[in-house]
Amino acid sequence: MVLGRGVGLATMAPISQLAGERGVRVTAILSARSEELALAADLFESVGTVVKVLDTDGSSAVENVEAILRRLIAGKKADAFFTCGSNRLMQLMKRLGKEHGIPGQMAMEQIMACGLGPCYICVRTFEVAGKLEMRRVCVEGPVFDLQECLGW
Ligand code: FES
Repeated sequence: MVLGRGVGLATMAPISQLAGERGVRVTAILSARSEELALAADLFESVGTVVKVLDTDGSSAVENVEAILRRLIAGKKADAFFTCGSNRLMQLMKRLGKEHGIPGQMAMEQIMACGLGPCYICVRTFEVAGKLEMRRVCVEGPVFDLQECLGW
């Protein structure tokens, strides 16, 4: 299951395509301000099921997305979570992943300068085995275990 918002949807496209090529069905929840900003909907539709949630009709509210996710989990349609593009949605997926034992990953968006490791401008805090840990998104990421990601 992929859940992305805004430009984060573009990040979710390649992994969805890869899943499709390997015969794995993807349920994609596309969150956007409006219909035309629900990027790459065609690609997601080609590999599975698409649910669009929009600001224009209020369906992008976290409570509604949670209800959708809970329905899919109850229907055994969620065995892995992937997310990008929203702190609120990441927190939601993290919480439900923990509650239901569903593993997940987050592709983290972060300002970068060098992109190679030495400048440390991209450092974020993670929680690993109960301890806070600083990691550089550019070289240690940008994809991280969802349960280790902290909000901002
Ligand atoms: S961008 Fe310079 S260390 Fe990550």
